[in-house]
Amino acid sequence: MRTFIAIELPKEIKEYLARVQNKLKASGADVKWVEPANIHLTLKFLGEIDENIKTKVIASLSEIAAGRDSFIVGLSSIGAFPGIRSPRVIWAGLSLGDEDVKEIAKKIESDLEKIGLAKEDREFSSHITLGRTRSAKNRSELARMLEDPPETQQGPLEFYVSEITFFKSTLTPKGPVYEPLHKAILKINQPVL
Ligand code: 2AM
Repeated sequence: MRTFIAIELPKEIKEYLARVQNKLKASGADVKWVEPANIHLTLKFLGEIDENIKTKVIASLSEIAAGRDSFIVGLSSIGAFPGIRSPRVIWAGLSLGDEDVKEIAKKIESDLEKIGLAKEDREFSSHITLGRTRSAKNRSELARMLEDPPETQQGPLEFYVSEITFFKSTLTPKGPVYEPLHKAILKINQPVL
């Protein structure tokens, strides 16, 4: 099965990001937009794995999560890889929680390497993918919009992350179908009295 590990986003955040997508659609760029229900923050893409590895991944994730506090993620501006002047992957960046996300992603990477999963060549960079361009059509219009983003009604742009989700991804002609295989629960952050 094809799998990945991610942070799920609350409904309100997905709705906000769908509004951002809708504004950017006015550029007329040829973008494959991520279905709002499918928008997530990827921690690690595993690709094809077997049942034996699946069991080990669940054990690793449970151990990682049990040792880490829940935290808050805040969204910041919209950016693009390789850069906003030549957008290929359009994403929402993090203004808050970036260090926590990076630390978890690094820990997942090193623990999963011990059970035989390959490390990424590229350094992890926290981002929430909104869409990927399919061609150069109207790419410069999209770049202009990213440089000077349209007003989008501000929603609750912060959310609490209390779990990490191990997903199965099935590719279909209608797009990927994501199904949680396991949710690893982070420690509850007790307020200081
Ligand atoms: P990204 O959108 O954050 O870049 C589920 O398919 C997620 O895994 C995608 O959202 C994507 O993360 C990541 N992904 C998909 N295919 C990948 C690949 N071949 N290599 C690395 N990451 C991949």
